[in-house]
Amino acid sequence: MVSRVIPVEPFDLVLFGATGDLARRKILPGLFHRYEVGQVPQDARIIGSARSEMTPDEFKADVRAAIEEFTPETSDRAEVLGRFLGCLDYVSVDAMSDAGWSALKGQLRPDVVRAYYLSVAPSLFAGIAGQLEKHGMAMPDARIVVEKPFGRNLETARELNASLRKFFREHQIYRIDHYLGKETVQNLMALRFANSLFEPLWNATHIDHVQITVAESLGIEGREAYYDHSGAMRDMVQNHLVQLLCLTAMEPPSKFTPNAVRDEKVKVIEALDPVAPSDIARGQYRADEGEDGYLDHVGDPQSRTESFIAMKVRIANWRWAGVPFYLRTGKRLRARVSEIMVQFRDPPHTIFPNVEPVQGNKLIIRLQPDEGITLRTTIKDPGPGGFRLAEVPLDMSFAEALGADSRPQDAYERLVMDVIRGDQTLFMRGDEVEAAWAWADPIIEGWERTRDKPFPYDQGSSGPEEALMLMHRDGRRWRQIGG
Ligand code: BG6
Repeated sequence: MVSRVIPVEPFDLVLFGATGDLARRKILPGLFHRYEVGQVPQDARIIGSARSEMTPDEFKADVRAAIEEFTPETSDRAEVLGRFLGCLDYVSVDAMSDAGWSALKGQLRPDVVRAYYLSVAPSLFAGIAGQLEKHGMAMPDARIVVEKPFGRNLETARELNASLRKFFREHQIYRIDHYLGKETVQNLMALRFANSLFEPLWNATHIDHVQITVAESLGIEGREAYYDHSGAMRDMVQNHLVQLLCLTAMEPPSKFTPNAVRDEKVKVIEALDPVAPSDIARGQYRADEGEDGYLDHVGDPQSRTESFIAMKVRIANWRWAGVPFYLRTGKRLRARVSEIMVQFRDPPHTIFPNVEPVQGNKLIIRLQPDEGITLRTTIKDPGPGGFRLAEVPLDMSFAEALGADSRPQDAYERLVMDVIRGDQTLFMRGDEVEAAWAWADPIIEGWERTRDKPFPYDQGSSGPEEALMLMHRDGRRWRQIGG
């Protein structure tokens, strides 16, 4: 595969929260990778900004340490890193006062792309947006990037949208859902809309059900307070899993443009039926011998926050009537696996009597690890011994098929470059986020009203028994996590 790197235009990127965890782990290493491959031009500038007083040299030393820790060592990394650090600067600002803002303005160049990346708590969005406006930096062509959580319900999401829209127009606002930056997630669109093979089958006539799993083996280490206030529904389902559901279920957009794609996603979210409590299994990982459980981790024996959720979701439209979408995500599960499994219907009639029944085909789209696509098909079991059927995979691992150079870009690398290119296709529009909260809110409110308690599950398992029952009840089975 030939890699085609098209440099982006020169830019000034102001990174608020530049000393925070996300900036150090993802954003700055991502920018460094894009610099390494020649996509970030030599005259690009990245201006770190945070409340801490720090000299530009101290900031550069911190970025050097982050990049050495979070990017793979290569023979010329030290040399490239030296040049990359030359693009960096640092200005201390305070979102709550005027301190530092004029100095920041003095750093910015006219006539280059200008982006403000708010890698900070959402409570600071309004303050920073206001200061940018007040100091004449909210130009009509500037871009503003915000991270999740985008609200914790419909009301707070509306407030955040309103506070950003006071100073920036929708086409300037880039709301990140990093799942949309994952290579295979975009491949889902290519698979569906650049092939003629699947689309005729992509409906209730041929598909029995869909499973979307985002399982993690890690717990909530280091984020206890945030997580206990959110839970899996707010942290993962309302955003990442809903996005995966949208891309799987949406109608083909007429063009691959930001609004055409996002219009179709909003229609899917708006078509989601309310979810009955009996179609949900919430879980919380319990303590094991020698291993603390969720309640120990958050230090609250009464916590009713879920670290796992499985649910059956229905999309009330012509294409998907009667096809359940089962969503599942959780912490401390048996493996780290994100995948979408489309289960096709069984053949309507079997011509092979006395043979074990043939299962419908499955299409498995693996997001991580080992990005790829597998189509499980039925064949004749080779050899003598009577006519038997067997299920085999038609397997495509991107790494194998596309070669070693196909290291997928980290989601953040792509998304930051899209901001500079001015392409909003992989970012959530304000109405999309609000629609997802409008669907999630009644579910969460229901738990709060009834003081619903999650079911305990073993660490390293597939979640609570109740999640298995959710499927068994319908005569179906979850795909094994990591199997
Ligand atoms: C984040 C969630 O948005 O996504 C985390 O807040 C979660 O709880 C993470 O661990 C998962 O992302 P990835 O890319 O590792 O699958």
